[in-house]
Amino acid sequence: MVHRIHNFNAGPAALPLVVLEEIQSEFLDFKNTGMSIIEMSHRSKTYNDVIEDAQTRIKRLLKLSDQYHVLFIQGGASMQFCMIPMNLAADNDAVDYVDTGTWSSKAIKEAKLLGKKVNVAASSSDRNYAYIPKDLNLNPNAAYVHITSNNTIKGTQWKTFPDTAGVPLIADMSSDILSRPMNIEPFGLIYAGAQKNMGPAGVAVAIIREDMAALPSEQLPTMLRYATYVKEHSLYNTPPCFTIYVIQLVAKWLEETIGGLEKMELLNRQKADLLYETIDEPGFYRGTADLDSRSLMNVTFRLPSEELEKQFVAEAAENGLGGLKGHRSVGGCRASIYNATGLDAVKALVEFMRDFAEKKA
Ligand SMILES: Cc1ncc(COP(=O)(O)O)c(C=O)c1O
Repeated sequence: MVHRIHNFNAGPAALPLVVLEEIQSEFLDFKNTGMSIIEMSHRSKTYNDVIEDAQTRIKRLLKLSDQYHVLFIQGGASMQFCMIPMNLAADNDAVDYVDTGTWSSKAIKEAKLLGKKVNVAASSSDRNYAYIPKDLNLNPNAAYVHITSNNTIKGTQWKTFPDTAGVPLIADMSSDILSRPMNIEPFGLIYAGAQKNMGPAGVAVAIIREDMAALPSEQLPTMLRYATYVKEHSLYNTPPCFTIYVIQLVAKWLEETIGGLEKMELLNRQKADLLYETIDEPGFYRGTADLDSRSLMNVTFRLPSEELEKQFVAEAAENGLGGLKGHRSVGGCRASIYNATGLDAVKALVEFMRDFAEKKA
């Protein structure tokens, strides 16, 4: 038996075991080519089938209309922080951002660097980003409204998306893409680093609506234009072949093993409910996010002291429960329960949490 822990890492994060096994089984000889997937031309028919299947499956899972293009772009989600203002707002255009923590703040910084007129339409910085703001001061003339759908570090998540009265909505969905069904129509662009819910690091998946991709961008370097990726089907240069291949397998797993995003959401809710119920038992653990803003993906909590938190993370690791330390910028504990972290892992964690609380209270 291979040694595998219950993996609560925030990203890179757990991948479905069956996907890892499939990679292993076809790693040396991919589909009778006598080569590994990482040894063949990205222009071959064999590889083209992989990248196309990844795009088709993501489109089906998210029920995307033909108006949307699924792109694979290197540089992670962080590169999108600059590509968005470069491509989707003209010089001196006003742009709206909602500030819900570290990643939103980084996105705002890049838009400012590029000279856009940034309006922070709302911020939850007054209470250490423990909630998703409800009242947004939106500018009807903004080129777009940018939000972070799930705040990986603070453990908060948008439950419904704001009505932007026709202004294109843009969302960084790095830590909750493909975790639930959603209506994509109001979005001009969504994007996500692959390494949480989709595959290994190395690529951001960007899903862009035709009208946004058609905005003028000839003045930009070729590799930084969305139009390049649309026109060349994400094959302008050599793409991160292995990462895209794993994304294809994860999308196949979501469709064929899980049965789609409705089913995935049910499972994700079950996992999160179990964990939050345990945290809410009086006396020991304390959730850090407001109840109505709690994330289904990153569950953040504190213990009565920092010393106990240290012990908790260390003892959990000794018991095969890994990745429970909070982000270095906030401390505390965090269990990331992305799609591939199963109910069995959450049950094991909850059992450990109850034992630990009983011992230490
Ligand atoms: C919500 C969110 N946005 C952006 C990023 C940055 O992603 P990358 O490392 O792919 O640039 C992260 C990484 O954890 C994230 O959680």
